[in-house]
Amino acid sequence: CNGGGSAASEGKKDDKKIVIGFSQIGAESGWRTAETKSIKEMGKNDPEIELKFSDAQQKQSNQIKAIRSFIAQKVDVIALAPVVETGWEKVLREAKRAKIPVVLLDRRIKVDDDSLYTTFIGSDFIEEGKNAAKYLANLIGPDKKVNIVELQGTVGASAMIERQKGFAEQLKKYPGYKIKKSETADFTRSKGKEVMEAFLKADGKNIDAVFAHNDDMAMGAIQAIEEYGLKSGKDIKIVSVDGIKDAFQAIKDGKSNITVECNPLLGPQLAQVAKELRDGKKVDKWIKSKEDVYEGQKAIDALPDRKY
Ligand code: AHR
Repeated sequence: CNGGGSAASEGKKDDKKIVIGFSQIGAESGWRTAETKSIKEMGKNDPEIELKFSDAQQKQSNQIKAIRSFIAQKVDVIALAPVVETGWEKVLREAKRAKIPVVLLDRRIKVDDDSLYTTFIGSDFIEEGKNAAKYLANLIGPDKKVNIVELQGTVGASAMIERQKGFAEQLKKYPGYKIKKSETADFTRSKGKEVMEAFLKADGKNIDAVFAHNDDMAMGAIQAIEEYGLKSGKDIKIVSVDGIKDAFQAIKDGKSNITVECNPLLGPQLAQVAKELRDGKKVDKWIKSKEDVYEGQKAIDALPDRKY
């Protein structure tokens, strides 16, 4: 079946599985690993779904190849976690011509024609950025003078662009808060450490806070801060996005301060959307994740029940 107009929507029930081809970005973070696990579990446990999985190792060109291969295999749904926002028109037009619906997972794309994808399942990254700034200001005091360094995610990724935007927008409310340095660390722990080391070397005594676009980079930064001889979470406050267990543990250990949750467990929602499309139903253009912000005792209390 091919989305709308399928056998099921015409009332002929068959037991053919819905074949989903999923192009994943890679395995840069704990968050991404959790997302992969959630999708693979859905593929294994849902009797109505068959999953074809492809890991792009951070390369858009590999994702484009994977999409073309899914089209050639005539899958029913293409799920795409796009590494960057732009450059998707050509291949998505090919999917559209083949009448295969495209479901964006966790990151958005920028295309001239929004009909090139059916829906986006994921978070409000701008809101996450705003929350990061809001909670940081509440923690330190909105009227203080605060020098911030920013660890950006992968350049050109919607998660990076929108978190940066939301954070900067919210920061306008606190005139004493300044972003002193901002560089990409590609959403990885090792680069987070490396870039933080450089920030510390340049002006370590004048950094009050780190905003990391994900928890993994924050974990790397914490290591760099401790090795530099400062106390992470105290001398330098840490706010990051994702809500992986390690971030909760770091808050419990007093080394981090705030994690803004971003839900990677999207397998069940993807399965639901695939079934709705098979059944000829209309799906919302944005299926938004429900998320929270954790700090202090709230984070410590939540740690034992964290799923990723
Ligand atoms: O797109 C979501 C982001 O991608 C997560 O915040 C980050 O950890 C991941 O790599």
